[in-house]
Amino acid sequence: SSHLWGAEPRRFPPDVVLQPSPALSWRSTGGILDVYVFLGPQPKNVVQQYLEVVGYPFMPPYWALGFHLCRWGYSSTAVLRQVVENMTRAHFPLDVQWNDLDYMDARRDFTFNRDGFADFPATVHELHQGGRRYVMIVDPAISSSGPAGTYRPYDEGVRRGVFITNETGQPLIGKVWPGPTAFPDFTNPEALDWWQDMVSEFHAQVPFDGMWIDMNEPANFVKGSEHGCPDNELENPPYVPGVVDGSLQAATICASSHQFLS
Ligand SMILES: *[C@@H]1O[C@H](CO)[C@@H](O)[C@H](O)[C@H]1NC(C)=O
Ligand SMILES: *[C@@H]1O[C@H](CO)[C@@H](O)[C@H](O)[C@H]1NC(C)=O
Repeated sequence: SSHLWGAEPRRFPPDVVLQPSPALSWRSTGGILDVYVFLGPQPKNVVQQYLEVVGYPFMPPYWALGFHLCRWGYSSTAVLRQVVENMTRAHFPLDVQWNDLDYMDARRDFTFNRDGFADFPATVHELHQGGRRYVMIVDPAISSSGPAGTYRPYDEGVRRGVFITNETGQPLIGKVWPGPTAFPDFTNPEALDWWQDMVSEFHAQVPFDGMWIDMNEPANFVKGSEHGCPDNELENPPYVPGVVDGSLQAATICASSHQFLS
């Protein structure tokens, strides 16, 4: 999911260009291209063969298939309650109520603001009592600018070494909703444990049912990082595909940043 480019067509490396022949041209900056051909013979066999390669979809909870309502601007639990009450009064179907960033304290994950959302846990509990479910937004980028010891998700992430790092081996700092942020490296098994701990600690406070994961590509408001990117072949390959801004760093992190896998 992406706040940045949600409805726009996006192009990523490699380029795939449909030719008139009919034919496809693939242009890649490198790596290995595995090509699978699914022979069917029926379309349903092609779907089965495809799933054998990519894996099976998860079974969604029944409520996830219901009627959901979400927008930015439900600025307090009072407004949220009004929305739900108004929907109920109008006999509009509503199974799942959502929140955008409004619930957070300074737009930081795993927090909630103690002014408008002081009774957040009770509000979610009441939704449950009314037979409804609740989902809130979470942006994997973690605020990095607070004084040490004031924001556990970042402090704990640094302690466990779960963030993507830059050329000098420090957390690569970009910019997302809360301002300067570090990006969890989900290829690192330690990051999965850290993420699970942060989620379950928050869940112990606010009994949410689902998470709306946003801007996890990772998307970034600055190009590469707040400290720029190194000048090397990964950042500036001989051929750059038709990406946004003609640059691999546009709206994301440096191409040569370090992850557990590479
Ligand atoms: C709920 O309905 C009332 C009465 O129509 C309206 O004044 C109020 O603005 C509505 N609240 C929201 C959050 O839409
Ligand atoms: C790496 O990131 C740190 C912040 O975590 C920053 O101080 C440092 O300048 C960055 N190094 C490079 C080479 O950009």
